[in-house]
Amino acid sequence: MKDVFSVEDFRMRAKNFLPKMVFDYLEGGSEGESGLSRNVNAFGKWNFVPRRLADVSKCSLETTLLGRGYSLPFYVSPTGLNGLIRPDGDRILAQAAAKAGIPFVLSTASNLSIEDIAASGDGERWFQLYVLHRDIAKTMCQRALTAGYEALILTVDVPVNGYRERDMRNRFALPATYGLRTLADGLMHPRWSINFLRSGTPKLRNFETLEAQGPEAQAALLKRQMDASFDWDALRQLREWWPKKLMVKGVLRAEDAVQCAACGVDALIVSNHGARQLDGTISPLEVLAEIAASVQIPILLDSGIRRGADALTSLCLGATIVGLGRAILYALASDGERGVERCLEILTDELKRGMALLGASSITQLDHTLVRRSNWA
Ligand SMILES: Cc1cc2nc3c(=O)[nH]c(=O)nc-3n(C[C@H](O)[C@H](O)[C@H](O)COP(=O)(O)O)c2cc1C
Repeated sequence: MKDVFSVEDFRMRAKNFLPKMVFDYLEGGSEGESGLSRNVNAFGKWNFVPRRLADVSKCSLETTLLGRGYSLPFYVSPTGLNGLIRPDGDRILAQAAAKAGIPFVLSTASNLSIEDIAASGDGERWFQLYVLHRDIAKTMCQRALTAGYEALILTVDVPVNGYRERDMRNRFALPATYGLRTLADGLMHPRWSINFLRSGTPKLRNFETLEAQGPEAQAALLKRQMDASFDWDALRQLREWWPKKLMVKGVLRAEDAVQCAACGVDALIVSNHGARQLDGTISPLEVLAEIAASVQIPILLDSGIRRGADALTSLCLGATIVGLGRAILYALASDGERGVERCLEILTDELKRGMALLGASSITQLDHTLVRRSNWA
């Protein structure tokens, strides 16, 4: 990994390592994919306005969120099918996050179960919930609670699945179907294929362990369709089921943020799901300051973070910590555990250097006066 200096370098390595079908799953957006570049380019619309002659000899990236301290203002975003990228992908990410002192979010669509990850070591774990059926959701909440997860992340931007054309074209599905094209793709990426053959098709482990559910719940499981009727009343009900920290992921409007806060939600994740749902959806960075100003609860942000500078801009505009999605998955794909650790190191160094150059020695010194929207972008 001596030639890796940025997340983009990991991206190129991931592209070489993964079969096209898997890289497309990781990389792709929905429909025409206009949102992918918009998310990344949103950060370039903001310029830094550095403060000079500040003592930045000691820069600390430590931060607090909802009463807990973290070493860095990052967390690992929930991503499904990490086991397809690397066998044991969920565990690798969880352990690297623990080592770095940041939270790891396990997806409902993970390839290791809630319990497997809880037993895989120390570190703070949050569980991301997709509601396929209320009974299943309730069971999963109880399992996450019993397993000691500190927070529940309810994803609200998937009432229906986004239309991912790359996945359609590639006939991407689990269990995998093998055509000539898939086999050729696999042969051209032998290192990934050997892993895959050794460990077998990844399973959605959280669903396997579900005990006898009613027929409706079973049908929902089989179709893997979301409960599109989930509304504010359902959120209030969920608030009653889950006594620990509750965060809602996918909020992009101030009025929704206000309503979440009124329902007792502890924090919000401003996100457009990495441009994988409705193409053309506004980039989270564009609404961050407005949402942060509308509520008293902490705001987290993801979608498009590829550099420490992106995190820095987000923190200046009101985010408490930021989520790493594809950035860390590229590293997981190309270099496994060492890659994930190196990726976190690179992002940390970039952020620390950026803070020093901006004239801030701690996260609490970051504010909106340190960035200005460019007239040129
Ligand atoms: C391959 C992949 C799988 C994802 N799976 C989930 C998921 O299971 N649950 C969820 O809430 N978000 C999921 N997301 C969205 C991420 O949590 C996050 O919002 C997004 O990756 C941020 O955008 P970025 O990757 O451009 O940084 C997924 C994203 C990717 C790229």
